[in-house]
Amino acid sequence: MEPLVPADLEEYARRHTTPEPPLLGELSRETQAKMAMPQMQVGRVEGSFLKMLVALTQASTVVEVGMFTGYSALMMASALPPEGTLYTCEIDPEAERMARAYFARSPYGARIKVLMGPAEETIPGLAAPVDMAFIDADKVGYPRYFDLLVEKVRPGGLLVLDNMLWSGKVTRPDDDSTRALVETARRVHADPRVENVLLTVRDGMMLARRLAT
Ligand SMILES: C[S@@+](CC[C@H](N)C(=O)[O-])C[C@H]1O[C@@H](n2cnc3c(N)ncnc32)[C@H](O)[C@@H]1O
Repeated sequence: MEPLVPADLEEYARRHTTPEPPLLGELSRETQAKMAMPQMQVGRVEGSFLKMLVALTQASTVVEVGMFTGYSALMMASALPPEGTLYTCEIDPEAERMARAYFARSPYGARIKVLMGPAEETIPGLAAPVDMAFIDADKVGYPRYFDLLVEKVRPGGLLVLDNMLWSGKVTRPDDDSTRALVETARRVHADPRVENVLLTVRDGMMLARRLAT
């Protein structure tokens, strides 16, 4: 992923963001050392922003599509109330192993329910209402994940979609992933059930707030 924000500014933002708990620092380092694509992890700034969104929306039910090694799941789970639940979808058993090992060590791990299998198959089984959804998996799946989740998010709830600027490629789409992201942006923006803002945070974060319609 080509960074949109210059490295020195990203580092400045990191330095002026609440430090991550030591366990998440350890998870980050182990992911860097052992996983083939560690850059998929959201990182401290975006992770802290997701945590803040869970806190601000006072969410108690969150759905994540794309758990990987569990960094964003743990960040969001830490802002849930004790009885809250974060459902997270994943297909990679190697990522699952690492995530579960960290969930077991975290005081917030018991709030996380892992759903293994293609998200297209696991999301329909989730009960509504959902307070917040975070979409961060395969990009060709995004239009479908948005369609499935916008139905389940309660009025006033929030959908967050990551990588919506895709290293800047969305202005000149020439592959399936980029085309799917452009279609997702069009779909979110045209949907009368939400109001939305596309933020230039990290790789582009689309926020869509579910309206009462
Ligand atoms: C960008 S990573 C998620 C990063 C994670 N949110 C974090 O911060 O650590 C995307 C993940 O989506 C998973 N994935 C890909 N296709 C999927 C599908 N159809 N259903 C569920 N998960 C999928 C991948 O295995 C990968 O671990």
